Amino acid sequence: MRMVDIIEKKREGRELSKEEIQFFVNGYTNGTIPDYQASAFLMAIYFQDMTDEERANLTLAMVDSGDVIDLSNIEGTKVDKHSTGGVGDTTTLVLAPLIAALDIPFAKMSGRGLGHTGGTIDKLEAFTGFHVELTDQEFTEMVNRDKISVIGQSGNLTPADKKLYALRDVTATVSSIPLIASSIMSKKIAAGADAIVLDVKTGAGAFMKTEEEAAELASAMVRIGQLVGRNTMAIISDMSQPLGNAIGNSLEVQEAIETLQGNGPEDLTELVLTLGSQMVVLAEKTDSLEEARERLKAVIEDGSALGKFKQFIQNQGGNPEWVEKPELLPQAKYKFDVLADEDGFVTEMVADTIGVAAMKLGAGRETKEDSIDLAVGFILRKKVGDSVKKGESLVTIFANQEDVADIEAMLKENICIGKDIPETKLIYREIHS
Ligand code: URA
Ligand code: CA
Repeated sequence: MRMVDIIEKKREGRELSKEEIQFFVNGYTNGTIPDYQASAFLMAIYFQDMTDEERANLTLAMVDSGDVIDLSNIEGTKVDKHSTGGVGDTTTLVLAPLIAALDIPFAKMSGRGLGHTGGTIDKLEAFTGFHVELTDQEFTEMVNRDKISVIGQSGNLTPADKKLYALRDVTATVSSIPLIASSIMSKKIAAGADAIVLDVKTGAGAFMKTEEEAAELASAMVRIGQLVGRNTMAIISDMSQPLGNAIGNSLEVQEAIETLQGNGPEDLTELVLTLGSQMVVLAEKTDSLEEARERLKAVIEDGSALGKFKQFIQNQGGNPEWVEKPELLPQAKYKFDVLADEDGFVTEMVADTIGVAAMKLGAGRETKEDSIDLAVGFILRKKVGDSVKKGESLVTIFANQEDVADIEAMLKENICIGKDIPETKLIYREIHS
């Protein structure tokens, strides 16, 4: 086989065989296929697209390029949840104990945040001592005993994706549905789950700005999942404004605790119940979404989900008492309110720019090497659709610096007030195969 022939075949829009796709992925990962041929090939895919079969074969070839997590020693159906990047997205922190409280194993591999999006591990590290560097055996034992654990990303998971993603970044081939879908799905499949619920975001803070694009990506991923034997479904949810009210690590942990106590923001609670009920159904605990939702609500009401959260924090080295006393979590020195300049309704809170503002304040990292300040961030006092009076607080800034003029200016510019109530939507649609 020669790479030049494979490039030509894709350039002409013909379907590649499994062997041809494997030849490319193996050769590129081990360095025998150079960047210039891989670049040309990626661009050919960008313009010619891939069939479902090709996408599934690309995904599996990337899975095979590195370690695959073996969850077979964990009892029960392992359902994973993946959100495609968001601002202030606290769903995993809430879902993990909720699902575990229903006796469904929550065995998750998670990552850190980059750019305007946050990462679950960073948030959990607001509990001093919490760690995700677990051996496979510790991870398996925790999930079998308590149904819940989060482990850090293995260094050698889908190396082909890492290398290809870096190349896509500099060859204008990131925004390609077959390439994004296979990239995300390869990581999910390598992480070992039996079934996958995808939360594909749409709007300013998301990768896919329109509902149509998000739906196209979602159905591409669902079809890959089904073709490789993992039961997969997707929800399209809104990320035009941040999710919930808290943005920032320690603040989001506090928001997760409030949500587990039944006092969380309406949108976060609703998204968690929506995704959670799909997970319960995929775990084959019931075939009724309504019943799944009732069971999730019940473990919030009787406190068992909060109890699971404490157990989880304790198991992984944090102090569970902080769950009852969140004031012990890292706290910022200064608070500043951003006030409304006029009466009206909040018409827009641009999620990605608010995420960037949080990053600049120290809540996120610009490059992988940056360190973050767990205490800082924002609490939104208003959300899109709320009425507001001149002089009322729109956002509280939690900072460890005295001068936040530039952050305040960014927030003001990206929170719009108008005369008419805007339409808002949280869940757009469900996508099944
Ligand atoms: N996230 C990924 O993991 N891969 C992509 O290609 C795009 C977003
Ligand atoms: Ca939030």
